[in-house]
Amino acid sequence: MNKKTAAIILAAGKGTRMKSSMPKVLHPVANEPMITHVLRACDGIESKNTMVVIGEGMDTLAYQVAPARTVIQKSQNGTGDAAKSARSVLENFEGSVFILLGDVPLIQSKTLQKLQSVSEETGLAVLGFETQSPHGYGRLITGGSRFVSEIVEEKDCTRDQKEITLCNSGAFCVDGKRLFDWLDRIENNNAQGEYYLTDIVAVAAKDGVQCGYVTASEDEVMGINSRAQLAQAEAILQSRLRMRAMDNGVTMIDPQTVYLSADAQISSDVVIEPNVYIGTGVSIGSGTTIHAFSHLEQCTIGEDSNVGPFARVRPKSKIGNHVSIGNFIEVNRSELKDGAKSKHISYLGDAIIGEKSNIGAGTIIANYDGFMKHETVLGEGVFVGSNSTLISPLKIEKGAIIAAGSVVTENIGADDLAISRAQQNNLDGWAKDYRARKEEEKRK
Ligand code: UD1
Ligand code: MG
Repeated sequence: MNKKTAAIILAAGKGTRMKSSMPKVLHPVANEPMITHVLRACDGIESKNTMVVIGEGMDTLAYQVAPARTVIQKSQNGTGDAAKSARSVLENFEGSVFILLGDVPLIQSKTLQKLQSVSEETGLAVLGFETQSPHGYGRLITGGSRFVSEIVEEKDCTRDQKEITLCNSGAFCVDGKRLFDWLDRIENNNAQGEYYLTDIVAVAAKDGVQCGYVTASEDEVMGINSRAQLAQAEAILQSRLRMRAMDNGVTMIDPQTVYLSADAQISSDVVIEPNVYIGTGVSIGSGTTIHAFSHLEQCTIGEDSNVGPFARVRPKSKIGNHVSIGNFIEVNRSELKDGAKSKHISYLGDAIIGEKSNIGAGTIIANYDGFMKHETVLGEGVFVGSNSTLISPLKIEKGAIIAAGSVVTENIGADDLAISRAQQNNLDGWAKDYRARKEEEKRK
């Protein structure tokens, strides 16, 4: 590859088949908007100029794709018209211009590189795929040759053309100097009255330019037009992400039941048990086990730690090394430093738990007073007895012990004991007398 590259991503369509108020390309796959996946593929081809074509009023989309630039397609007159919207920035671009569809999110940069190689030879190349269910896709007409003479949309296909299984993925790579001349010559005399980008092939042929093609797997280039296809793409990407994690040394006992976000960073020798959800922004250090049914998002987990089963680690949380978080623990905007333990049914919110501190079963950090959140800081080696409530804000210094069942409202000094519960009072033989009295009453 020697030429410079640029990319136009088409994303202005309303996506009516999604039946959604949100622009189609913002619907997420592996917790990232479709368009973000396409932008990542563009990074892989070192696109110097990536333009996203959006519709009027799609401000959230513009915000999402930044720093990539956006241009507005005023009315949605088809993919050929949409590509023209990038003219102000890319006219006469000296290099290869990719045109990609925002609703084809699983496309890989390796494939785009192959497409570019062919385009550099011919001036125009399209990415195709073979499928047993071509319905809805444009068909590539090749007459068995290495070149595509025409692309025919499903709605314009003859009965014979409908039998063709080589389809259009929607991705093109075009010589930048000729692109806009070809786009200008596309007409809209077709079943939908739209300017089809796919007609660029027939227009270029009139100039004696043959359109080359390469193929990708059906899984990689599936287009998402409906919620069912969104779910299908999700399944494909999940299996790709799990395979990648396992290739990197992660053990998954039952991979099909593990959900991964596209940006998950999981080190080697991490074990993930069945039914675990890894939300966005999660990193997990080597040697750590995430036990069954745990739910993690926006958090960092250190090395050689244990999380779960049934743990929930919420955003802005940091779990250190050799930490144990057991069943029914909720950690929220909190840090557990190295060697800390919280093994049974607790809520830890807006807290810093010092090294090797032990949080007893049923501890609640009451961080919210109904108006504001407050912080609790525990030093190193603090012992919190079971069923304690720590009412924030609090500072509990190194080595302090809190007696079980305490409600703590005051700070505690280093190595002090805090006990805050009603005094126990034992009455000699009272239970026996009570039973005798009650039995007597019942007999009467
Ligand atoms: C398109 C292709 C079809 C291909 C399929 C692959 C055309 C005419 N058809 O069909 O050959 O097999 O993708 O998935 O190109 N868009 C705009 N402005 C518009 C219309 C669409 O920006 O005026 C954008 C949409 O937001 C979408 C993309 O272009 O991201 C594709 O549009 P869509 O309507 O989904 O085209 P398909 O019917 O899927
Ligand atoms: Mg589509």
